[in-house]
Amino acid sequence: MSSDLQEQAKRHLWMHFTRMGSYQDHEVPVIVRGEGCYVYDEHGKRYLDGLSALYCVNIGHGRAEMGQAAAEQAKELGFYTNWSYAHPPSIELAARIAALAPGNLNRVFFTSGGSEAVESAWKLAKAYHTARGERGRHKLISRKLAYHGTSMGALTATGLTALRTPFEPLTPGGTHVANTNSYRWSEDRDPLWAADAIEEAILFQGPDTVAAVILEPVQNGGGCFVPQDGYFQRVREICDRHGVLLISDEVICSWGRLGEWFGCERYDYLPDMITTAKGITSAYAPMGAVIAGDHIAEPFLQGKAIFNHGFTFGGHPVACAIALANIDVIEEEALCERVRENEGPFREMLESLRDLPIVGDVRGAGYFHAIELVKDKDTKETFDDDESEELLRGFLSGELYRRGLICRTDDRGDPIVQLSPPLIAGAEQFEEIEAVLRPVLSEASERVERWSSLSRV
Ligand SMILES: Cc1ncc(COP(=O)(O)O)c(C=O)c1O
Repeated sequence: MSSDLQEQAKRHLWMHFTRMGSYQDHEVPVIVRGEGCYVYDEHGKRYLDGLSALYCVNIGHGRAEMGQAAAEQAKELGFYTNWSYAHPPSIELAARIAALAPGNLNRVFFTSGGSEAVESAWKLAKAYHTARGERGRHKLISRKLAYHGTSMGALTATGLTALRTPFEPLTPGGTHVANTNSYRWSEDRDPLWAADAIEEAILFQGPDTVAAVILEPVQNGGGCFVPQDGYFQRVREICDRHGVLLISDEVICSWGRLGEWFGCERYDYLPDMITTAKGITSAYAPMGAVIAGDHIAEPFLQGKAIFNHGFTFGGHPVACAIALANIDVIEEEALCERVRENEGPFREMLESLRDLPIVGDVRGAGYFHAIELVKDKDTKETFDDDESEELLRGFLSGELYRRGLICRTDDRGDPIVQLSPPLIAGAEQFEEIEAVLRPVLSEASERVERWSSLSRV
């Protein structure tokens, strides 16, 4: 059955990060409605949204109070800019975020999304150093496989080769270091070697040329790499030693995702800036922000000093009103506490899948976890490109969706299945996730076993 929506989507809509050719013989998945942890497609079929619509809808779908907050604000003041002006929702939201954020992170620069937040944080780091007489500090250090967005500056921070090379040359000054994927480290390795690699990179680049290091609390790209104990404390020391700023990219890891308002609180470090987006409004409107320490704002508060940077829609009043209503829900429904309480059972459910031959690793924190798929559990052998293509796109992603579970299958690093449910999810949803994952991953294991026996013939 082909609806008008299908035809129009295929003819006119340019979908992001999508092989549009693959929809010549398949339907475009058209999601028309959401409620709680579930979304519905144009045929009325229900899916468990195990990815919170790309790590966004923290408070769940279909919240009438978000629409109400938007409508009231649109009626009062639909739009005014934050270029030289302010309005009550942006002021109130900035103050509310400052009160929630740790330490001296008291100054909020709004953007329209995550890439703009990363772009802005890097520019702010450069501007901060310049204002303090250190004009040479312009470089940004980030980690391999990390995703920090797609605009040219944010893409420079992104450590995914396939996303970068088609658009080179990128913004000069990006450099990449090891991530914290200890699954593939030998056991006798110093657990903090990846933190020390940051110092090596700073020394190699020349400390006077490095503006900032940008890291996620839990790295999304590659599949929920958690930090080793003491990793962020070591990185903080290194940054301080060399006058380099630490940016915590929490586009995913804030607003309860890891069981705290901000991911840096979970690992007990204080960055100079936090970049955030997605869950700040639970995606009921597009929004992002840089939350900067008082010391970062200080050089821009005197005389003619200015941070010459902005976006028309940064701090849009309707988005701010929605963000405020979203924070109300997170607070009133104690969603951070809920994640802390339910993280154990969520993790146990995923760990229980380790008996399947294809499940190599289970990792993550809060409501943000990944399962790494392997060809051989004992040797941790991974799949080659063709096998991964066949496994993920040829089977897993279609089959999981067909069985009503939206999650992410990804092979930009080693192949993973990733889950990041709305923070309102609980035991019922975990059971449903397992009821889909177990048979689908069992079938995947059998397929892999068949390939292996064919290759042995
Ligand atoms: C850590 C991180 N930074 C930046 C971005 C870019 O955000 P956006 O897609 O809103 O531009 C993302 C998006 O997923 C992200 O996960």
